[in-house]
Amino acid sequence: MSKPILVAVAWPYASGSRHLGHLAGAYLPADIFARYHRLIGNDVAMVSGSDVHGTPITVRADAEGVSPSAIAERFHAEFVDNWERCGIKWECYTSTGTENHARVTQEMFMTLLEKGHIDKRRSEQFYDEEVGRFLPDRYVEGTCPHCGYTDARGDQCDNCGRTLDPTDLIDPRSKMSGSVPVVRETEHFYLRLSDFADQLGEWLDSRVGWRSHVLNFSKGWITEGLHDRAITRDLEWGVKIPVDDLGPGKRIYVWFDAVIGYLSAAKELSERRGEPDLWRRFWQNPDAESYYFVGKDNVPFHAIIWPAMLMGNGGLNLPTNVPANQYVTFKGGKASASRGVGLTIGEGLDMFEPDSLRYALAASFPEQSDSDISIEEIARRINEELAATWGNLVNRVLSMIHKNHDGAKPATGERTAEDLQLLATVEELLAKEAKQIESVELKAGLRTAMDSAQAVNIYLNATEPWRSAKTDPERSATVLTTALDAINGVRVGLSPYLPFSSAKLDAILGEPTGWERVDVPDGTPIPKPSPLFPKVDLEALEADL
Ligand code: MF3
Ligand code: ZN
Repeated sequence: MSKPILVAVAWPYASGSRHLGHLAGAYLPADIFARYHRLIGNDVAMVSGSDVHGTPITVRADAEGVSPSAIAERFHAEFVDNWERCGIKWECYTSTGTENHARVTQEMFMTLLEKGHIDKRRSEQFYDEEVGRFLPDRYVEGTCPHCGYTDARGDQCDNCGRTLDPTDLIDPRSKMSGSVPVVRETEHFYLRLSDFADQLGEWLDSRVGWRSHVLNFSKGWITEGLHDRAITRDLEWGVKIPVDDLGPGKRIYVWFDAVIGYLSAAKELSERRGEPDLWRRFWQNPDAESYYFVGKDNVPFHAIIWPAMLMGNGGLNLPTNVPANQYVTFKGGKASASRGVGLTIGEGLDMFEPDSLRYALAASFPEQSDSDISIEEIARRINEELAATWGNLVNRVLSMIHKNHDGAKPATGERTAEDLQLLATVEELLAKEAKQIESVELKAGLRTAMDSAQAVNIYLNATEPWRSAKTDPERSATVLTTALDAINGVRVGLSPYLPFSSAKLDAILGEPTGWERVDVPDGTPIPKPSPLFPKVDLEALEADL
């Protein structure tokens, strides 16, 4: 039975290039998970889009002297190109700049307002008298009260990492004019998050199979006390507030509208497909499941604030799981030394084949704790694991069949216990991997798939079909067909991780029939293979940096 699965992926800020850490943190795990579910026949909607609002975009626009929409369009186009090159496949990748998104956001705002979950409050905020405007967080800079760093932002100190309130800063200055801001009273809408504390706590307690770091963090947040949060800002860039109580110059806060994107993107998908009720299958059907792929800095927004908004709105499914990843740090290599940060997704794809990069990142997904990657480590994984264990195996078996059997799969003779054992092992490992992927243990799932490839290598080394080709051609043929039938199962398990090389194999072996191992029909043409994964020349790569 086909199950609706919403794969909801963090909306990247269209304020700058995204890095390999973002790819490994959210986009790639989501894509692997979605590809698996499509293959087993589930009804998948993988959705996200570029987050075009908020001060990250306006700050950059101001710095470059261009409009916020020019920045948003530039990086939206770059992200779309990244996904294409990397094989990140969406049912709907959109942006928060659409009319549909504004409408869905305003509808949810109105529902929460009417139900009493949003109210208006006065607070004190920095005001720039020179330009005559209130200053949102990132428009105030000053000295960090914790570490003394002189260029701390109003929302966070980049030096010590602590989150701040603009009024915490010592010697605050306005980013707009450089002048010293004054404190003035202002009015904003607030989400009454504290009203949901008990309901959220019970819901979190009822979650099974969640990563412990996500649950612990979220429960800790509630224990510390939930604070009502301002959901409007003094900005002119963002979704318009659907009531005019606050006067001009204010917009909905980026974090309030961005999470609503998961719903608005599902509605956009309905429109695109001409099925107005399609979104309901993912959002209102009690059997539907939803998985939110985000980095750990996004956990509070997806495990607390968004669920509270959904509870307040009513009639929409809460997250099934928020399998947030920890951080990938980029270590070693000249790329990080010279730039201080990791490679952008585009730079990573300039250096490595997309499947090779996907493999290396998936093999070190930071699912439970932070992980380090480096160019050296990526190259080692490609050469010593992916190419050595899987690429060479495929190449060996296809070449031998092509050469010794006139370019087609020969008939299989009587299979020995050893032959049957190999096929059973591949099937068992596929079943094991399925469970791992379903519980979002994607790094372990990849290891299981590679164990399966390794089982075929061990089988070949034990049976030595290249030797028996001369002494016992019939036995050699049976070993080779057994290896090919095993490979036909291994490639199913690798296909969510390696879509490009899998498509090359599909062209020879046919598309996978599902999450299962089936025999390749006798007589299937086996052309002379070309290597699936080129070896990486680390020295040449580093010379180019
Ligand atoms: N743009 C934000 C970030 O990159 C938030 C993304 S997740 C969302 O951290 F759901 F809120 F959009
Ligand atoms: Zn600091």
